Amino acid sequence: MNDDKRYSILFVCLGNICRSPAAQAVMQRMVDERGLTERFFIDSAGLGGWHTGDLPDKRMRVHARPRGYELTHRARCVRGSDFEDFDLIVGMDAANVDDLRSRALTLEQQDKVVMMGGYIRQYPHYDHVPDPYYEGSEGFELVLDLLEDACDNLLNQIIQQNKI
Ligand code: 4NP
Repeated sequence: MNDDKRYSILFVCLGNICRSPAAQAVMQRMVDERGLTERFFIDSAGLGGWHTGDLPDKRMRVHARPRGYELTHRARCVRGSDFEDFDLIVGMDAANVDDLRSRALTLEQQDKVVMMGGYIRQYPHYDHVPDPYYEGSEGFELVLDLLEDACDNLLNQIIQQNKI
């Protein structure tokens, strides 16, 4: 059980160097701006371990910086204890969500897994956050646009549902 009183969110993508560390930074700033820093614990992880210990991809950091996000997370893999330790586990696309649910040991753990696309409102053509790794600049800007939209809606929902 997680005895920490803070509401904890783990953002997950494939490599933990593009989408999920960006989501972590976007959500952390939103929480900070709303004066809720002490009420949340926000982290990110990857389903693959190719980049363990690395900083986020340079391109992701370059695109995040003008929007005021410094991405300093070091990549790590999702681990079994994450399913106990976190209140909510947010996958960036359907493959992430399927993989996460397959790793959950109980229905309760499975229910913690949601898809980021479910919180996108302003970009109705997107039901997931696409992997930008093999894309150009537009792919990284799109990731940030989608994450800013989705994090705002996710945070509002958590607050409305009195989870904090
Ligand atoms: P991410 O992007 O899942 O948003 O961090 C990727 C990063 C690395 C790889 C794939 C996706 N990779 O195959 O190394």
